[in-house]
Amino acid sequence: MKTVSDLGDLRGKRVLVRSDLNVPLDGSVITDDGRVRASVPTIKGLAEAGARVIVVAHLGRPKGAPDPAFSLGPVATRLGELLDLQVFFARDTVGNDAKTVVAGLGNGDIAVLENVRFNAGETSKDDAVRGEFADQLAALADVFVSDGFGVVHRKQASVYDIATRLPAAVGSLVQTEVEVLKRLTEHPERPYVVVLGGSKVSDKLGVIDNLLDKADSLLIGGGMVFTFLAAQGHEVGQSLLEVDQLDVAKGYIDAAAEKGVDLILPTDIVVAPEFKADSPATIVPADQIPADQLGLDIGPDSAAAFADVIRGARTVFWNGPMGVFEMEAFAAGTKAIAQALTEVDGLSVVGGGDSAAAVRTLGFEDSAFGHISTGGGASLEYLEGKTLPGLAILENQSVEGND
Ligand code: 3PG
Repeated sequence: MKTVSDLGDLRGKRVLVRSDLNVPLDGSVITDDGRVRASVPTIKGLAEAGARVIVVAHLGRPKGAPDPAFSLGPVATRLGELLDLQVFFARDTVGNDAKTVVAGLGNGDIAVLENVRFNAGETSKDDAVRGEFADQLAALADVFVSDGFGVVHRKQASVYDIATRLPAAVGSLVQTEVEVLKRLTEHPERPYVVVLGGSKVSDKLGVIDNLLDKADSLLIGGGMVFTFLAAQGHEVGQSLLEVDQLDVAKGYIDAAAEKGVDLILPTDIVVAPEFKADSPATIVPADQIPADQLGLDIGPDSAAAFADVIRGARTVFWNGPMGVFEMEAFAAGTKAIAQALTEVDGLSVVGGGDSAAAVRTLGFEDSAFGHISTGGGASLEYLEGKTLPGLAILENQSVEGND
């Protein structure tokens, strides 16, 4: 894959950068600006090289038409603050405002275009419709830089089709993410420990399938653990349970035993009668969850045992919180895991999405970890061994079908 330095002298060139600026918002307040911060180095580098930088990104999942709730306006403001530079904002993506803003850019100037998903062509399943929109995007620029790692698993106009229309390269964020994920999939240093949490087993099937052949230990927590406990024949009360995945979970327990992978489940659970921050919490053995209660975090013994395994690893990948970390009473398990990752003598990787949000909400510094991925779905799909359209197209491979 080409990198920015392969694009030659960019002074005066219009460079369209696809970033992933999909941040959580509370009204117009950004509650976690991690993805904006992660996008800064590429944008800054291009501006310093004298390029006219045009940033294209999405926010949320609007329905292919403008929707003020999903405007990138607040994100453009935050980007300007982080860069300590004026960042221009176009109120559309390929319309008159975008054209005027782009035409007005001087060397080293930066503009953010309005949410690319306000245009139905961006996510269309129809190649021709997507291609037409990609043509409009391409007309704004001379070269393309793909730096939105969190979206490279999407076959969308600003991620995939545009790369066939302009000279294209990856930015430093995508480059770093891919390097780290390669270290997790090709010759990881051992012991290699994978920690999975989050609510659903069904979201993690591919990743468990693939990592059972690579990891030494697989630690499971979060809502998905109750399907595993039920598969072992335990009562899980009112806890989250995917009945249709019971056989799958059982299959993983058996496969792990066959392959010599240590599949470790919690031995104690924090339960409460209701899914509420002030619901009275108690700790029970994992095989004795009362019928009228639900599990909301792994218990302290399990957290300590998981932390020990993590600290002894040379490579750790963690995706998915251990409990409802947003509620103080059910945050301890996730906190213990995050803390243990900061103590790893080797490579510790926090998968994106909820786990990245969790470590920041719980007050950890990004620098305490080897790497915090900006891609939730993208990093999981990479670890599943899937072809990611946004990367494949930069390796000159076309991809059949859509996501
Ligand atoms: C993400 O949040 O994982 C990325 O920004 C991709 O967003 P999407 O799942 O809406 O395509």
